[in-house]
Amino acid sequence: MNAKVIATGAYLPKKILTNFDLEKMVDTSDEWITQRTGIHIRHIAEDESASDLAAKAAFDILDNADVSASEIELIVLATVTPDMPLPATALFVQEKIGARNAFAFDINAACSGFMYALSVANAYIKAGMVKNALVIGSETLSKITDWTDRSTCVIFGDGAAGILLKATENEDEGILSMVLHSDGGYTDLMRVPAPGSRQPCSVEAIENRDIYIKMKGNETFKMAVRSIASVSKEALDLVGLGFSDVDWMVCHQANRRIIEGVAKRVDLDLDRAIITIDRHANTAAASIPLALDWAVKNGKIKEGDIVLLNSFGASLTWSAGVVRW
Ligand code: COA
Repeated sequence: MNAKVIATGAYLPKKILTNFDLEKMVDTSDEWITQRTGIHIRHIAEDESASDLAAKAAFDILDNADVSASEIELIVLATVTPDMPLPATALFVQEKIGARNAFAFDINAACSGFMYALSVANAYIKAGMVKNALVIGSETLSKITDWTDRSTCVIFGDGAAGILLKATENEDEGILSMVLHSDGGYTDLMRVPAPGSRQPCSVEAIENRDIYIKMKGNETFKMAVRSIASVSKEALDLVGLGFSDVDWMVCHQANRRIIEGVAKRVDLDLDRAIITIDRHANTAAASIPLALDWAVKNGKIKEGDIVLLNSFGASLTWSAGVVRW
């Protein structure tokens, strides 16, 4: 069995925060943010949680697939901003959309979360355990962002998106390969230190701003391009394809310069890279499916296209997958 992508869907919260808004909050400028990241605006979830966003994205996916929620057998939700430590956010999504016949769980692999979730759903389908799966990335990063720290607050945004996978007997379509990597030697590059079992909720954690994202952006940046390029080659090699066979590359949208660097390194025309970071910013696990959904709805990715997905995230996770759409 292969897992074929049947439909995409997305949801972005209504509030938009521009670079000019950020100029009034921290010592930054539209020029700096645009040049260093490619970001112009980001969406911010005000009264919505990760499961609210994910459920709205799920309704869009189901509409586009013309499938009812009761037909869904598995929901895998990737997030680093769950509604609460337990239960899993995926269960709130299951309840909100009425997917009574599914089982549901969360995955945390930071910005590679969607890819890890996709690989899990793919494996369940390949093993014959389910016939379909909703795979969603949903983030409310604004809620763990330190809005006084200009080195992080300008790059993150909120949103949710995902895909519906369905089992197919045609081995030439759907997910053709997936490669995942992680390296626990770099867990200091990006983290939210509290609250957790190492540092439970405390006044001290709040006062030290340990409840927000801490990131060594520049060190992370330096490793991203090389890692994404090499794991992409691994995924293509597995199915005997090269970068010249790729119709569309959909990278995790962390920084426009990273996407440009990857395209240059693998000699892929930048016109074949889907770029949505200008209007979505970095939405961690939601970024790849948001870009995919935009590309499908805008007539870029079409049936039969070879789509290369790749990601890089904290701390560290990186992955790639090849899909015949
Ligand atoms: N506005 C203005 N200046 C800023 C700024 C901001 N928002 N943020 C940082 N700066 C300053 C720094 O203080 C530094 O000043 P200095 O040279 O006087 O010391 C200068 O800009 C350069 O900082 P640096 O951190 O080297 O910038 P950068 O070019 O690496 O860009 C990121 C910063 C975060 C945009 C970039 O490193 C990045 O995208 N990293 C990867 C993020 C990532 O992939 N995250 C994890 C996985 S998704």
